[in-house]
Amino acid sequence: MKIAVTGASGTQGNAVACLLTSQGHEVRRITRNPKHPNDVHGDFDRPASLEQAFADIDGLFLMTPLSGPSEAAQGIAAVDAARHVPHVVFTSATNADRDTGIPHFDTKAAIERHLAANHPHWTVLGPAAFMSREGPVALPIPRTLKLHLIAPEDIAAMAALAFEQPARFHHRRIDIASDRLTGPEMAAIRSTEFVEFTLAQAETYSSDLAAMFRYFTETGLDLDIPALHAEFPEIAWHTYADWVTGRAEPRPE
Ligand SMILES: NC(=O)c1ccc[n+]([C@@H]2O[C@H](COP(=O)([O-])OP(=O)(O)OC[C@H]3O[C@@H](n4cnc5c(N)ncnc54)[C@H](OP(=O)(O)O)[C@@H]3O)[C@@H](O)[C@H]2O)c1
Repeated sequence: MKIAVTGASGTQGNAVACLLTSQGHEVRRITRNPKHPNDVHGDFDRPASLEQAFADIDGLFLMTPLSGPSEAAQGIAAVDAARHVPHVVFTSATNADRDTGIPHFDTKAAIERHLAANHPHWTVLGPAAFMSREGPVALPIPRTLKLHLIAPEDIAAMAALAFEQPARFHHRRIDIASDRLTGPEMAAIRSTEFVEFTLAQAETYSSDLAAMFRYFTETGLDLDIPALHAEFPEIAWHTYADWVTGRAEPRPE
């Protein structure tokens, strides 16, 4: 298949583009700054560039950059530019469709609604927090709160499966997580300390991210990991320990 991948220089897009390429698909890596042979220019702020970038493809992996209030307009313009694309897989965020009041979740919900209302063949994936090996484990959450986490490779595997088995993913919104751990558990795996800070401190950095961590703490994400993993046994679903140490099992074929 010919598949365009937005955000291909970023965490999710790169994982998706690499996996699809390794599976033999023809991948258009969308970026504002093409450098490599499979890079194609596309800018969310220039819808005409997306029209061109999405021409004559079988599938689109759509992410939206975290760009504040303009994220909704960027995502909606991208959905419109993809109106002729046979299957759009949009990556949103876990529980973004729940009227959370978290600004960057609500912008994604607006894009999801536009996609569902205007595109005949769509899938929404709602990834949890991305696993990371970088920096300290410093979070504004209680030490006992288990955070839902996802490996970018598992987002990619779900997206690839959606393109390969469209009927199984048709008009579905699926929240996805690979593992669930407390801050101290993550820190122990990385042989480091957990640094707990307050929501008030987080607020001084970003009221949007503070709202997200308040939601995680006070409401909690609604995502049944065992049920998800049972429904999609072909995904590797990396544990944080295996992902951090690189001991992960290869994805089953
Ligand atoms: N981090 C998490 O834990 C988490 C969890 C769930 C959901 N999310 C969501 O994931 C999204 C970010 O995904 P990511 O972390 O994979 O991305 P990322 O690593 O932050 O990279 C951003 C990507 O966006 C592209 N981009 C930025 N502005 C653009 C524009 N105007 N036109 C075209 N491309 C543009 C960049 O491409 P170029 O610079 O090459 O053009 C780059 O590939 C956000 O919406 C965030 O809310 C994140």
